[in-house]
Amino acid sequence: MAAVSERSASSAFAAKYGPWAVVAGASEGLGAAFAAALAARGLNVLLIARRAEMLQAVADRLRAETKVEVRTEVRDLARGDLAAALGALSADIEIGLAVYNAAYVPVGDLVSRPLDELLRVVDVNIRGPLIFARALGAKMAARGRGGIVLMSSLAGYQGAPRIAAYAASKAFNIVLGEGLWRELAPRGVDVVVSTAGAVRTPGYAKTASQDAPGTLDAATVVEATLDALGRGPVVVPGAVNRVARFVLGRLLPRRTAIGIFARSTKDLA
Ligand SMILES: NC(=O)c1ccc[n+]([C@@H]2O[C@H](COP(=O)([O-])OP(=O)(O)OC[C@H]3O[C@@H](n4cnc5c(N)ncnc54)[C@H](OP(=O)(O)O)[C@@H]3O)[C@@H](O)[C@H]2O)c1
Repeated sequence: MAAVSERSASSAFAAKYGPWAVVAGASEGLGAAFAAALAARGLNVLLIARRAEMLQAVADRLRAETKVEVRTEVRDLARGDLAAALGALSADIEIGLAVYNAAYVPVGDLVSRPLDELLRVVDVNIRGPLIFARALGAKMAARGRGGIVLMSSLAGYQGAPRIAAYAASKAFNIVLGEGLWRELAPRGVDVVVSTAGAVRTPGYAKTASQDAPGTLDAATVVEATLDALGRGPVVVPGAVNRVARFVLGRLLPRRTAIGIFARSTKDLA
């Protein structure tokens, strides 16, 4: 009985957001988990990332485990021709769901980081999702249906020392997604920003030596995010993270919240 209702929930999801989904930043971590969850929900997937072999491995796994079509595009999302590339990639397929997951996270005091690194944050984490949402959102709005997911972070709710540029880029995604949510809802397109806390991914493992309180698996974050589509502009996956968000964002003065966040970023490598 549970399997039957799971199947019908999946087919309702595919009818609303299919037939194709694109995941930008899909070769590992949350992006690979988005790809797997979307394929399991019956959507064909177009996967974008820079590392060809890793992307191919994700694609091969999905082809072996599901019946959906899988395409890959090896590309750096920071490249200047992203808008044209998205036009070409979506020319012969109907993309009903677009997930911008990729991010660049330089760690360390901002004044000690090379300027190129900081500007790459703008290209990957700000320029990328802006172009992505516009290019694919326009086609969805014209069709009168679709969904857009922007991956943000609890770091985007206040200043975060040692990842200041990254946190600011995540704030951009929260506010961008909220505005788009309201603009596109009357045109049949659902937008959600996922403000995740710590998530066990290769990217997280590279910077953090141990799990922070409330750390979740990628699959849990992905399911909570996809389930939140159409329910409101922002989702905070995980009960511990929702409490943290409430305390840091609503109860404490902003300068105290920044100080607490600084404690969680001081050991990032
Ligand atoms: N992990 C966490 O604790 C956490 C917490 C809060 C929010 N988030 C957010 O969740 C998202 C994913 O995080 P993650 O930990 O899964 O990251 P990750 O393990 O570093 O994976 C990032 C993915 O994006 C791709 N990517 C990165 N830069 C790219 C570029 N310039 N062009 C194309 N693809 C690119 C990477 O593939 P290639 O290297 O092959 O290109 C990889 O597939 C990010 O937006 C992050 O801000 C993560």
